[in-house]
Amino acid sequence: MAKFNTFFLVLLTFPYMLSTAKSSPDFTDFIKAECRATRFPALCVQCLSTYSSTIQQSQKRLAEAALSVSLSRAQSVAIFVSKLARMRGLRPTEYRAIKDCIDNMANTVDQLNQSVQELSRAGQDFDWHVGNVESWVGAALTFEHTCLDGFGNPMMDGNVKVAVTRRVTDCEQVTSNALVLVHRFAARHKVGASSEETANLP
Ligand SMILES: *[C@@H]1O[C@H](CO)[C@@H](O)[C@H](O)[C@H]1NC(C)=O
Repeated sequence: MAKFNTFFLVLLTFPYMLSTAKSSPDFTDFIKAECRATRFPALCVQCLSTYSSTIQQSQKRLAEAALSVSLSRAQSVAIFVSKLARMRGLRPTEYRAIKDCIDNMANTVDQLNQSVQELSRAGQDFDWHVGNVESWVGAALTFEHTCLDGFGNPMMDGNVKVAVTRRVTDCEQVTSNALVLVHRFAARHKVGASSEETANLP
């Protein structure tokens, strides 16, 4: 009897389940569409689709998530290079490049951390706060790139160079994507603001 009831319950609710599944928006489509504007769209979707239920269709939350992911990647790269510095058998050139990279990654983490906080303040004085975010994320990119430059010497080929380069490049790509998403959010916001102004004209 209990089985019988369950069967009918499923039969009755199944069409309803189908229709709600169809009408609930798939937020990953929004993320995919926005990520198409970045330089590394596949990486962008891979990093951000886990947050689709939080982001929904908000460009601000998308930019916030992108910055947070970028910050956490930068933090793990910073930890990785700090550990490398304690490895035995490093050549002096490798050691120097690692030391510089530690400084550059610490600066990257700092710039991205400030950017995450600054973007959350972007309500009033929007242009000022978002302008700060754009220049700090730009600075983070420069620091990451400077770390890579330190390993650019072809004399330095080897496991250390490969390991650092792979991780920092990944981090740089995630940061570059975040910057594009911040730009897009800022641009859309300005268009929205100026059309409001136009609408308010007598
Ligand atoms: C980010 O900044 C806040 C406030 O300055 C600080 O408390 C926090 O430790 C920082 N986080 C990282 C990852 O640097």
